[in-house]
Amino acid sequence: MRFPFKVRDDIPLYLAPMAGVSESPFRRLCRRFGADVVVTEFLSAEGIRRENAATLDKLRFGGDERPIGVQIFGADPAAMGDAARLVTDVFEPEFIDINFGCPVKKVVRRNGGSGCLKDLSLVESVIRSVSGSTHLPVTVKIRSGWSEETRLPVEIALRCQDAGAKALALHPRTRTQMYSGSARWEEIAAVAGALDIPVIGNGDIKTAEDAVRMQRETGCAAIMIARGSFGQPWIFDQTRALLEGKPKPEAPKIERRFEIALEHAHMAEEYEADPRGAAIEFRKHLGWYVKGVPGSAELRRKLHAVVSLSEVEDVFASYLANPHRYDDAHIAAAISDESAGLESAPAAA
Ligand SMILES: Cc1cc2nc3c(=O)[nH]c(=O)nc-3n(C[C@H](O)[C@H](O)[C@H](O)COP(=O)(O)O)c2cc1C
Repeated sequence: MRFPFKVRDDIPLYLAPMAGVSESPFRRLCRRFGADVVVTEFLSAEGIRRENAATLDKLRFGGDERPIGVQIFGADPAAMGDAARLVTDVFEPEFIDINFGCPVKKVVRRNGGSGCLKDLSLVESVIRSVSGSTHLPVTVKIRSGWSEETRLPVEIALRCQDAGAKALALHPRTRTQMYSGSARWEEIAAVAGALDIPVIGNGDIKTAEDAVRMQRETGCAAIMIARGSFGQPWIFDQTRALLEGKPKPEAPKIERRFEIALEHAHMAEEYEADPRGAAIEFRKHLGWYVKGVPGSAELRRKLHAVVSLSEVEDVFASYLANPHRYDDAHIAAAISDESAGLESAPAAA
């Protein structure tokens, strides 16, 4: 299946667009760990066309992130066209992606994101307007429909293709479902079978094994991973190995995991103007990086209080010097020693 931009043809791996997560530092990191394509978080067409400073700031990306798609959302075809023109002229990504999947109230209230799925002629007008405003390929990301009653992934996908979409990513849940239930991978298979353009499968990939299973079960042309990349960007390398029939590389050991987290944190600090804000914003990533390490509850509690990178370094160093201190059993014993001490303390103390 041919992709509308230069990328490997044998099942490219996408880092999904994710507000507050798929920002430049994480995109760069994931590219290094084997993601073949990255997409920005969704950006408001109105914000772009009005040259809102905060929106334009999120459009910054480095050459090492390419191929990259800029994702835009909005329900006004003219505004979407204007935004596409500006993005093309100023930032020149490899493609422009239209968000027809966002379920957030603030967005769908104005018919943006998955709100567009209530009116498929609006979906077509938006795609036509964006395609007519750029020489870049235009791709779309959809859900399976607005609600169970209007769950028509194949029809929606065909109309996107007819309107000019050059690739389509499907997250097979409805807007009403938000993130509940399971992604229905059989809908990815149905859409992949019906379309001539590449279909990118997305939804509920937590491990490299899941990614390979989705591809085998659906025949999708590419795999898109969102939450499964949290704190484990190496999921892309692991997926590639399994796709090639090679053994899965082991997840990095704790020391290496901390190094990667710190490297990511330094990239985030360099990217953001305000180092304190960057450290606070970065706490969520830290929580994800330490998930599953022994004593992670205590470690996470400490990391969720940091306001600078040097504090993160200190927390990691103290953990590595004394990992057993974070042990749940050790903490429980320390607490019970303390309370025993209190109980036996002299009344005058
Ligand atoms: C924190 C977060 C932010 C997201 N932001 C976006 C976004 O900006 N644009 C978009 O198309 N999808 C967005 N999504 C949806 C994901 O791209 C993806 O479709 C969804 O999480 C299902 O994939 P997963 O099961 O691999 O997480 C977001 C998801 C999460 C968890």
